[in-house]
Amino acid sequence: MSNTITLEVMRYRPDQDDTPWAQTFDIEWTQDMSILDALGIIKDDFAPELAYRWSCRMEVCGSCGMVVNGVPKLACSTFVRDYADEGKITIAPLDQMPVEKDLVVDVNPFVEKLASVTPYIVPKKARSITEKEYKQTPKQLAKFKQYTMCINCMLCYQACPQIGINADFLGPAAISLAHRYNLDNRDAGSKERFKTLNKEDGVWPCTFVGYCSEVCPKHVDPAGAIQQAKAQGVPYWALSWFSKESEESAS
Ligand code: SF4
Ligand code: FES
Repeated sequence: MSNTITLEVMRYRPDQDDTPWAQTFDIEWTQDMSILDALGIIKDDFAPELAYRWSCRMEVCGSCGMVVNGVPKLACSTFVRDYADEGKITIAPLDQMPVEKDLVVDVNPFVEKLASVTPYIVPKKARSITEKEYKQTPKQLAKFKQYTMCINCMLCYQACPQIGINADFLGPAAISLAHRYNLDNRDAGSKERFKTLNKEDGVWPCTFVGYCSEVCPKHVDPAGAIQQAKAQGVPYWALSWFSKESEESAS
């Protein structure tokens, strides 16, 4: 088998390009080479201005998300050897978010969604330092632990067909984050979160395609979180629907 492979990388430089375009590079690959390593070779040897994000190189920071041969992946934990038979790898940005340059996308809309779900513990009552830390049993922790594994890589947003139709949809990771705190026995903020979850662009646009959970590199199940949040939110949704109805009939 040849140890040369073609990488087709989507390029977009807003100061020069009207639309994204593909540039191909032929590189020598090795068994232990990740897609992130391959991009490093391209940047070092062929296209020094190529823009992409990365930091930890070990599936922790969540910054190297991109689309590899049509599938949302982390570049640091996806290996060139797995595409060697195909002879070509296409690499594109997570373009369900606005593309800023080459493989770099604007994360602000995503961060705003995370911030909108009250992503912290709202204590049931004020607690003094002398009362020391909250204690949780393993069973209490197990209820929400999987959702704490999210690294905010946005692969689930790229996978979500509803985000493709409506960019304002709260989306898988933000809903999983809300669900994580709603399941935490130390928290008393669920009423506030359910207001956000039951807005028009909250949980309800999800049609349970489930691809978000398939692509998640950390085995979080955002699709499951969304369905559970829908079930838990029905009383809040009904309450807001009835108050809207009574407001309309009073006016
Ligand atoms: S839920 Fe999974 S795919 Fe989505 S942002 Fe978190 S780690 Fe990434
Ligand atoms: S470089 Fe941090 S997750 Fe890939």
